[in-house]
Amino acid sequence: MKEKLIKLKEEIVSKMSEIKDLGGLRDLEERYFSRKGELNEIFKGIKDLSDDLKKDFGQFANVVKQDLSSSLSDIRSRIEKGSSSANFVDPTLPAKKIAKGSIHPVTQVKQEIEDLFYSMGFMVLDGPELESDYYNFTALNFAPHHPAREMQDTFFVDIKNDEGQADLVMRTHTSPVQIRAMKKYGAPLKAIMPGRCYRNEATDARHEHTFYQLEGLMIGEDISFAHLKGVLEMVGKKLYGPNTKLRMRPKYYPFVEPGSNGEYTCFLCQGKGCRVCKYTGWLEILGCGMVHPDVLRSGGIDPEKYSGFAFGFGLDRLVMLKYNIDDTRLFNSGDLRFLKQF
Ligand code: DAH
Repeated sequence: MKEKLIKLKEEIVSKMSEIKDLGGLRDLEERYFSRKGELNEIFKGIKDLSDDLKKDFGQFANVVKQDLSSSLSDIRSRIEKGSSSANFVDPTLPAKKIAKGSIHPVTQVKQEIEDLFYSMGFMVLDGPELESDYYNFTALNFAPHHPAREMQDTFFVDIKNDEGQADLVMRTHTSPVQIRAMKKYGAPLKAIMPGRCYRNEATDARHEHTFYQLEGLMIGEDISFAHLKGVLEMVGKKLYGPNTKLRMRPKYYPFVEPGSNGEYTCFLCQGKGCRVCKYTGWLEILGCGMVHPDVLRSGGIDPEKYSGFAFGFGLDRLVMLKYNIDDTRLFNSGDLRFLKQF
């Protein structure tokens, strides 16, 4: 009886491999699995066996039946999914889509600017986001109680150093990396330093407590304001096209002298005036100037021998302008509806 069942099983398996559609499946079920089907005939015989055989064979027959029915349901689901034959794989069907992330818009623009500076021989450096008060302010010529410190609303960190002073801050700008770079590499030096910064802002569409800057520094013998202007003009043209102009107007920053802001022709209205540039024709996106002699000294560089320029871009602002994004808080929101657009 066992042999008979094994033979029948082989027969059914081979028939199964020929099934092409639901009709074929139904015929097979009818022939072997229905009440009058061949498999049931064998099951009906079990009751006439001796007790021992009944147990042994009964178990075996049940396993066979289970295997066969699970193959049947596999075949059924494959047919129902649409392939015409149970074993048929159509390699021309489009593959399953694999969910793919995308590069954050701030990172994209950062990489674009990095490529440009890299091609001009600048290093790309980074520095700590948890910074000492000394690097963030003092070494950059902010006197201890000078009101210029108030230009940057700072997160002070309540951890004491060896002398018992709490002197750590979340860096408020990327400028402290200038000092670290000077100390590490000396002069001459060409580097940009992109990175994340923090300020204790009441957040709104234009202010965020966590944001990005891109700092630049070039130091050498006879580096002049003309070099600064030349480099910034090139960045403007790269970002906003060949007709972009640069406008510079004096502005105070403790670590540069003279200090200036930097504005580019509004790329939306080509300088005619529109809502984005507040009808001025210009977009202010950076601060810059000639590195203050005290700052060169903090970095261990002799201001009698070397001079240099520095600049700092608000990276988020660049990106907002480039893609017409009206709320800076979207960058850190983690909202996929926003991020998927880039
Ligand atoms: N650190 C300045 C800020 O966050 C931006 C800046 C201005 C950087 C002038 C510079 C510079 O390197 O020369 O407001």
